[in-house]
Amino acid sequence: MSFRIDVITIFPEYLAPLRQSLLGKAVERGLVEVGVHDLRQWTDDVHRTVDDAPYGGGAGMVMKPEPWGQALDAVRPAGTRLVVPTPAGEPFTQRMAAAWAAEPGLVFACGRYEGIDQRVADWAADAGPVSEVSIGDYVLAGGESAVLVMVEAVTRLLPGVVGNRESVEYDSHADGLLEGPSYTRPATWRGHEVPPVLLSGDHAAIARWRRAESLRRTASRRPDLLAALPADALTDAERDV
Ligand code: ADE
Repeated sequence: MSFRIDVITIFPEYLAPLRQSLLGKAVERGLVEVGVHDLRQWTDDVHRTVDDAPYGGGAGMVMKPEPWGQALDAVRPAGTRLVVPTPAGEPFTQRMAAAWAAEPGLVFACGRYEGIDQRVADWAADAGPVSEVSIGDYVLAGGESAVLVMVEAVTRLLPGVVGNRESVEYDSHADGLLEGPSYTRPATWRGHEVPPVLLSGDHAAIARWRRAESLRRTASRRPDLLAALPADALTDAERDV
């Protein structure tokens, strides 16, 4: 069974990267199916209007509910999660990516302007799970680039998409910590040495060093992640560092 991804957007060309590189190969190999749909095909007027002024006044335009209703009737299989990227959403995380990768597929609804009439997400929740999510604390012009980010994070977790399971399991964020630094040959480069422990062949010492680097980097760059770890995630010695 392949993982099915549908994206509804007014800029279908923006999603061309979905057919390239790692994901493109997964599509070629039949692991993933991708459908990109132009929202304007579900408009009824000659101008193919998808937006209108906000009720209550204010800046910008809001995407009208009717084309979205028809689009989702046509595209979304019953029970499939609807993902709506929005800067006002809950933060997208590695944990979410892993949970979504275990589902049969996803439908993404890309908003532009000031977003989509809220009744679309509210109505869609009757037919299956709906996630309004943000990929970070900054504002993009629309949801398309956020969809590219989320699709890449989800599909690389699907069985068979990434050759090396370990490289997925030891990623930054997989254990709640950032990954430490990596090195390859040559052992000396422009006066900079590879940390000697990595050349020692002592696998226990290397594992201890990697764990320490991971903790050090997380404490310095993402203290919020350290604070959020469960009580038993760190040893007493690690907690004191
Ligand atoms: N649309 C606009 N900004 C966004 C963000 N930060 N995350 C997801 N979708 C968005």
